[in-house]
Amino acid sequence: MIALKTSQELSYMKAACALSAQALQIAGEAVKPGVSTWEIDKIAHDYIVKHGGTPNFLGYGGYPATACISVNHQVIHGIPSKHVILREGDIVSIDLGARLHGYNGDNAATFACGAVSPEAQRLMDVTEQALYKGIEAAVSGGRIGDISAAVQQHAEAAGFSVVRQFVGHGVGTQLHEDPEVPNYGRAGHGIRLNPGMTLAIEPMINMGTPNVRTLSDGWTVETLDRKLSAHFEHTIAITAGGPVILTRP
Ligand code: MF3
Ligand code: CO
Repeated sequence: MIALKTSQELSYMKAACALSAQALQIAGEAVKPGVSTWEIDKIAHDYIVKHGGTPNFLGYGGYPATACISVNHQVIHGIPSKHVILREGDIVSIDLGARLHGYNGDNAATFACGAVSPEAQRLMDVTEQALYKGIEAAVSGGRIGDISAAVQQHAEAAGFSVVRQFVGHGVGTQLHEDPEVPNYGRAGHGIRLNPGMTLAIEPMINMGTPNVRTLSDGWTVETLDRKLSAHFEHTIAITAGGPVILTRP
């Protein structure tokens, strides 16, 4: 069931998403050599709580932290740890969200830790561009597959691969709602996009193989070939006037 949001609900979504975006921004600013991923998680946690929100990943399916922080060949769901100390040249994917007024924001970005290699920078740039291509395709009257195809085409044209085992999703009173938003697919296929839909579009793009595996901690997802991966995510609303990015600080 796809929950269409009223304009009142969209204003609650906007507030939750703005807080999510602010928390992501300050978490990203904390990415520096020598900092642990636990410290970054704490900064995000305290920021969300201080502003009246609830970290919506914390406790979700038993997840133990505010943010997922995935370094280099880790794709998503990296668990923050005092033992993971960032180093110059790492690429650091931070995914987090806040709940406010009963509604959820969800967003992610990959940050450079100091100076990174040109290839790593290109992977990050292409992944962020793929997200924006997907958002541009999220037009009322179109279909989910329009988003999927736009993301996939951009990533693959650059020589990268699209993770298929994890997808974007609807978001609202629940962190994960229908529909699924794959990052691969065919334009003109899938369910129709209608005003009031709120979606988390979140390409996960790999330098090598698209295949991933989950570690024995039950959460951390990494690339099978241990090559780099990047992840960018926005929560957006489909409106009659076009897609609106809600996760803006
Ligand atoms: N933010 C993830 C997503 O984009 C959800 C993380 S699952 C959690 O869908 F358990 F860590 F919360
Ligand atoms: Co998400």
